[in-house]
Amino acid sequence: MQVDEAIKARKSVRAFKADPVPLSLVTEILELARFSPSGTNIQPWKVHVVAGETRRRLEAEVLAHRDTDPADKGAEFPRTSKRKEPYTTRMRTLGKEMYGLIGIPKGDQAANWAQWGRNYRFFDAPVGLIFTIDKDLDAMSFLDIGIFMQSIMLAAKARGLDTCSQGAWNNFWSVTRRVLNVPDDEYIVCGMSLGYADQTQPVNTLVSEREPLTSFATFHGFE
Ligand SMILES: Cc1cc2nc3c(=O)[nH]c(=O)nc-3n(C[C@H](O)[C@H](O)[C@H](O)COP(=O)(O)O)c2cc1C
Repeated sequence: MQVDEAIKARKSVRAFKADPVPLSLVTEILELARFSPSGTNIQPWKVHVVAGETRRRLEAEVLAHRDTDPADKGAEFPRTSKRKEPYTTRMRTLGKEMYGLIGIPKGDQAANWAQWGRNYRFFDAPVGLIFTIDKDLDAMSFLDIGIFMQSIMLAAKARGLDTCSQGAWNNFWSVTRRVLNVPDDEYIVCGMSLGYADQTQPVNTLVSEREPLTSFATFHGFE
């Protein structure tokens, strides 16, 4: 698959088939992603690759914690859920389209809660990735993690696999830390589902909108 094709074909999948992803394939993808660039080449990414019994335990413990302590939300590092325009509209458009496809009526809090909870099942994907970063590093290194994640997503796409990045894994980080033995001096930055898309699920027909080039690019110095 050409790079252009992979960039366009990649999209977030939120329903996966149970088909396992062989360790050799996951390794192949990560072997490729390690060629990602990073500021001053510090390669700050760390990733926990979770499958089988550990994945089941992580899912069970996070969901149990979420049920007993639903207010325990948020990342261990500073984040804000406040959004201004144009971001609010873009976020709402995505939510409306996604929940519409799943068939969740507006204002149905219980159904929203249940759907959001699917994040912690990795949307049934057989493999979950949890990305962590040394707490001493700053925002520039978070960029490196994002680039690394995109490399994984494109390499996966080129191999017939799909992904969904999941900031949702910022929440309930204390449980993830405990289950995966993440050291105290690392933040849990993001999660990612990895597997084969279940094409029968309406949620996977979602094609999220993109703004035109003119809305974000300012060109200087061209004749
Ligand atoms: C850093 C990051 C965090 C994300 N977190 C979540 C998440 O927690 N749950 C989810 O369903 N999608 C999540 N997404 C997926 C975005 O909603 C998605 O990328 C966006 O709507 C664009 O759609 P596309 O990926 O299908 O092109 C995340 C994406 C990124 C890049």
